[in-house]
Amino acid sequence: MIVDIINKKRLKEELSYKELEIFFNGYLDGKVADYQMASLLMAICINGMSDEEIFALTKIFIDSGDILDFDELGILVDKHSTGGIGDKVTLIIAPIVASCGCPVIKMSGRGLGYTGGTIDKLESIEGFRTDLSDEEIYEQVKKIGLVITGQTKDLAPMDKAIYALRDVTGTVCSIPLIASSIMSKKIASGADKILIDIKIGKGALISTVEEAQKLSELMIKIGKIYNREVRTKISDMNIPLGFCIGNSLEVLEAIDILQGREDNNFLVDLCYDLSSEMVSMSKGISKDEALLLVKEAVNKGYAYQKFLELVKAQGGNLNKIKVSKKEMYIIAHKSGIINNIDALELGKLSVLLGAGRSSKDQKIDHSVGIKLHYLVGEKVKRGDALATIYVKSKVKLPKSVDIFDIQKKRL
Ligand code: URA
Repeated sequence: MIVDIINKKRLKEELSYKELEIFFNGYLDGKVADYQMASLLMAICINGMSDEEIFALTKIFIDSGDILDFDELGILVDKHSTGGIGDKVTLIIAPIVASCGCPVIKMSGRGLGYTGGTIDKLESIEGFRTDLSDEEIYEQVKKIGLVITGQTKDLAPMDKAIYALRDVTGTVCSIPLIASSIMSKKIASGADKILIDIKIGKGALISTVEEAQKLSELMIKIGKIYNREVRTKISDMNIPLGFCIGNSLEVLEAIDILQGREDNNFLVDLCYDLSSEMVSMSKGISKDEALLLVKEAVNKGYAYQKFLELVKAQGGNLNKIKVSKKEMYIIAHKSGIINNIDALELGKLSVLLGAGRSSKDQKIDHSVGIKLHYLVGEKVKRGDALATIYVKSKVKLPKSVDIFDIQKKRL
C-alpha cells in the first residue's frame, strides 16, 4: 500500500485524502520509514500536487496537533516570512503593530541553513524566554498585546517532522509543501489575519516571481477555506536585509530602527510596508491610514516602548547583548559604486562564523556576525572597509570581489 502510493505520485496521479492521511499519519506513527517519506516528498517535488491534494495535506498537518483559540483576545494578526539573510523584520514590525493597538502573537522558528531565525536572535538577549506555554501566551497578550515565542511543541507536529526530513533531502523548495507547511502552522496558531512575506532571489527558497505568485495564490485559497484573510507581499532577497547579519547584531539593528535612528533604507521601507499592511488588516482601515499610525508609533517612541515591554515580560535583559570584540574587515578591491551585495555569500559566511547552523542540533554563537558599512548604490574607494566581521577566532574571509559587485557606475 505504501509503495503503491509512492508509485502513484511518481506516475503523476492524484492522491486521495485517505491515501495522504495513511501515508503522513503513518510516518508520524513510525509505520512509514524515513526513506519512504523521502521518496514521496521527492516525487511531490518533481510532479507537484493538485489544489485538492494541497488542501488535504494542510488539513492533515493541522489535525496532527493542537488548534489554538484566542478568539476572546480580539482579532489577531500574524506575519510569516519564507526566510532571508539578515531578516530581522519580525523584531521590528511585531512591536510596531502591537503599539498601534493590534494584538500580535508571533510563533517563530530557529534558523536553519543560511537563513537566520527570530528565536535565535531573541535569545541573544540574556534571559529572554522563548518557550512560553499556551496559558502564558494568553496572559501576556491580554496584558501587553504582544508575544514572540517559539512554536509550541504540539502545534502542527507533523510539519515539524516533515520539515526536518525535507531539509536533508533537497525537498524544501516545493511550492505545495511550502504552502501546506506555512499555512498549517498559521491556522493552528489561531491567527485571524495572516500576512506572508514571500522572498525571492539568491538568498531565498524561491527563485522566480512566477513561483512566488503561485505560492501566494495557494496560500490565499487555503486561508479562504479556513475563513482567514491572507495577504501576501513578494520581496527581494538578492541583497541582505539591512546592515547586520548575526544574532546580537541584528537585535541591535532592530532597536536602532524601532528608535527611529535608521531610515531611508530597503529594510526600513519593507518594515513600514509590512507593518501598515498588518495594521490595515487588523483595524479594517486603508493602508495609507495605517501607515500614518505606524509612522507615529515609531516617531513618538510607542513602538520601542512596546519592544521594552516585550523584553521585560519575557524575562530578558537588554543590557546584556554580547557582540564579540574581535574584529576583521572586508576591504574594497576597487573604487566605484556598489552594484550588488551577494546575500547568499554573506549567509554562508555567517554560518562559517558560527552565527547560523549547518546541522539541526548545532549550538550557535550569538556574538559573531557581519556589519556592512555600505549598501547597494553607495560609492566606495579601493581600500575602504566594506564590512566588519565580528569573530570568535581568526577565520579565512571570502574576497571582497566574491561578495561586492563594484562598478564604475550603477548598472
Ligand atoms: N517556512 C516554513 O515554515 N515551511 C516551509 O516549508 C518553508 C519555509
